[in-house]
Amino acid sequence: MKSITYVSSATRLLTPPELMALLEQSRENNVKHGVTGMLLYKAGSFMQVIEGPEDAIDRLFANIKQDTRNHLVITLLDDKIAAREFPAWSMGFHDVTNRDLPLVPAFTTFLDQKHDHRGFGTGGSEAKKLLLNFRTLAAR
Ligand SMILES: Cc1cc2nc3c(=O)[nH]c(=O)nc-3n(C[C@H](O)[C@H](O)[C@H](O)COP(=O)(O)O)c2cc1C
Repeated sequence: MKSITYVSSATRLLTPPELMALLEQSRENNVKHGVTGMLLYKAGSFMQVIEGPEDAIDRLFANIKQDTRNHLVITLLDDKIAAREFPAWSMGFHDVTNRDLPLVPAFTTFLDQKHDHRGFGTGGSEAKKLLLNFRTLAAR
């Protein structure tokens, strides 16, 4: 299996119903293809981890990179994995607000400002910490 973590910019601010439609589509597809993970959205930025069979992840990531709802996709981590970190999530989701800020001291950059390529160059492990943080939060 493999796991890819990336950040991207939404091409425009998505409305709650648009976000829900994206999530529903993702969850339905992900169940079919054995994909799990977590998606964070914050005022125009996405951060997502997708994990599963190598061919399914490669195909999905190619789709995401071409999806007109986002652009400037930056890969943070691309790893072979033996076990999933989000086994129970066809796609966990959190619409991040500034109120969440104290909960995720590990990676405030994503929450604070529009990401750029330089800021995320070495941010892979920090990004993973953030995503895992929200997994813990959502499981409570
Ligand atoms: C930020 C973002 C995250 C996405 N995550 C997923 C995902 O986890 N699973 C998925 O199937 N599609 C996801 N998509 C949608 C894909 O880009 C693509 O539209 C979809 O896989 C095509 O589905 P279809 O074959 O049902 O048309 C995501 C799109 C965006 C913009």
